[in-house]
Amino acid sequence: MSFLANPRRTRLVAELVSETSEAGASFGAGASPQTSRPEDTVGTDTTLDVRTWVNDVAELTQPDEIVWCDGSDAEKQRLIDEMVAAGTLTPLNPDKRPGSYLARSNPADVARVESRTFICSQKEEDAGPTNNWVAPDAMRSELNGVFAGSMRGRTMYVVPFSMGPVGGPISQVGVEITDSPYVVVSMHVMTRVSARVLDLIDDGQQWVPAVHSVGAPLVGDDGARAADVPWPCNDTKYIVHFPETREIWSYGSGYGGNALLGKKCFALRIASVMARDEGWLAEHMLLIRATSPAGKRFHLAAAFPSACGKTNLAMLRPTIPGWKVETLGDDIVWMRPGPDGSLRAINPEAGFFGVAPGTGEGTNPVAVRTFDHDTIFTNVALTDDGDVWWEGLTDTPPDHLIDWQGRDWTPDSEEPAAHPNSRFTVSAAQCPTIADTWEDPAGVPVDAIVFGGRRASNVPLVTQSLGWEHGVFMGATISSERTAAAEGTVGELRRDPFAMMPFCGYNMADHWAHWLSVGDSVDTAKRPLIFQVNWFRKGGDGSFLWPGFGENSRVVEWIAGQIEAARGEGEDRSVASAVGRVPAAGSLDIEGLDLPAEDLEALFDVPAGPWLTETDLTEEFFAQFGDHVPAALYKQLANLRDRLDG
Ligand code: OXD
Ligand code: MN
Repeated sequence: MSFLANPRRTRLVAELVSETSEAGASFGAGASPQTSRPEDTVGTDTTLDVRTWVNDVAELTQPDEIVWCDGSDAEKQRLIDEMVAAGTLTPLNPDKRPGSYLARSNPADVARVESRTFICSQKEEDAGPTNNWVAPDAMRSELNGVFAGSMRGRTMYVVPFSMGPVGGPISQVGVEITDSPYVVVSMHVMTRVSARVLDLIDDGQQWVPAVHSVGAPLVGDDGARAADVPWPCNDTKYIVHFPETREIWSYGSGYGGNALLGKKCFALRIASVMARDEGWLAEHMLLIRATSPAGKRFHLAAAFPSACGKTNLAMLRPTIPGWKVETLGDDIVWMRPGPDGSLRAINPEAGFFGVAPGTGEGTNPVAVRTFDHDTIFTNVALTDDGDVWWEGLTDTPPDHLIDWQGRDWTPDSEEPAAHPNSRFTVSAAQCPTIADTWEDPAGVPVDAIVFGGRRASNVPLVTQSLGWEHGVFMGATISSERTAAAEGTVGELRRDPFAMMPFCGYNMADHWAHWLSVGDSVDTAKRPLIFQVNWFRKGGDGSFLWPGFGENSRVVEWIAGQIEAARGEGEDRSVASAVGRVPAAGSLDIEGLDLPAEDLEALFDVPAGPWLTETDLTEEFFAQFGDHVPAALYKQLANLRDRLDG
């Protein structure tokens, strides 16, 4: 396929180029100099032609060659073989872990870099106080210098991908340009890479251009060629989003959400802006289907901050008899009001990029089955027989390992064998509990939205909101107590509204307003109920009050009962508390649990004093967003205070 096929010019690159005359010259004729996109082009740029864009990015980054990807198995295997030869991937023992590989990243490139993540909206207040903002023109000018020649000596891959089933009504498409074969192979797993996406774009479908470079050219200014390293990256990193033009530019990292641009960058930051403009929701949520012993189905979408056991809930194995939970997604959910008046949800991803440490037979046996073949592991430890290990995979560590940095490790070693943010990248189709509808392009109807945090105090095990507005208030006030592992004062509340703090591509408080308006656009009778859960409440002795994991199915069962009650198919089993409706006595099934009556009581205690203090903190938190905070949320805050005072 020739990338010169269509001579239409893009303003995207024209803008980028116009910032510095030096690089501008290299773009040749046709680029109309323009320093900023006029307001009326906000949203889809139907003039952006993929082939011209690819050509222009190639002129800027100067790769040796351009490869258009088609998403085929042969393409994936060819890239894997090349990475094995280059030392980027180590094949695992095919008897233990068939079709699987280990990657070790550069130790300085192990996680998302929020401090280098930018939302470059035209107006600073559209990014809001919780995002890093740089004016688009200034950022374009900076990026122009950074990307100039950044792919010299490397292959540039063009990866057309779909988030959600290709062509589906809730799906969106994008094209990622990258100079990392690890990224291409990961995109094969995490998204739908397909040449059909190019046909959709040619037919006029809106698409997101995403440019990624590891920032490690192999050919210097003097033309000298350096040898490659297994994990190229750059100390300087940029993860940049232009929400108005819906572009992503990522530089310097090859890891996870920094580099697999379909995930956090597109499916959350850019998609949240598209969703705001188009009346839908792009959220940091898991998606499950619970089926009751009577065969009734309930779909739950749940938002939890990172490190609150999202993947475990997505792959829940119920302990209560007769219940089944199936997986649809573990990280991101897109929801749109459907033609039937319900809110329809898809998981836009095609795979799981899960945190390995803490995932084991005891905590998540479904995940363990999921990654027993055809998986890429990154930054975990290697066993002497060519398999993988990490803290929590088994109770007893092997006597000897090669740690994530390639060093000998024994149980006496001071550092963990696997990096705490080490990952497995695996196709969702391999999950034994994947729901048969997980790829339904029309999505599934959402019955309940669940918000969770990690709270040692105050927040009950489960609370039903008093309605949509109160539910949005619950989402806006999600927080976790800071633990000793994080910077800051222990016990202090770390706010993570809607678990979207690092992922909302626009002003967080406008996101709350958007939720209020989406609620209005769904049929009242079909509107999901909203709940808050907290698996992490602690007793006076500092130990967890609730056993968690599979026992969380008891809470799912109570939630399902409330959904049935709202449908008029059962009785409401809740009673009022100051913070919302909690299970009536005896309505939460705790049979067989070793849960003393005082612990059960403590799980639902709503202490007025500490809660009133929390409302003051909420007011302070809201204040930073100024008049972007919807009046309805201040009203909810006042109502909560009244209920606590009463
Ligand atoms: C993730 C995260 O990697 O939320 O999914 O940090
Ligand atoms: Mn996540």
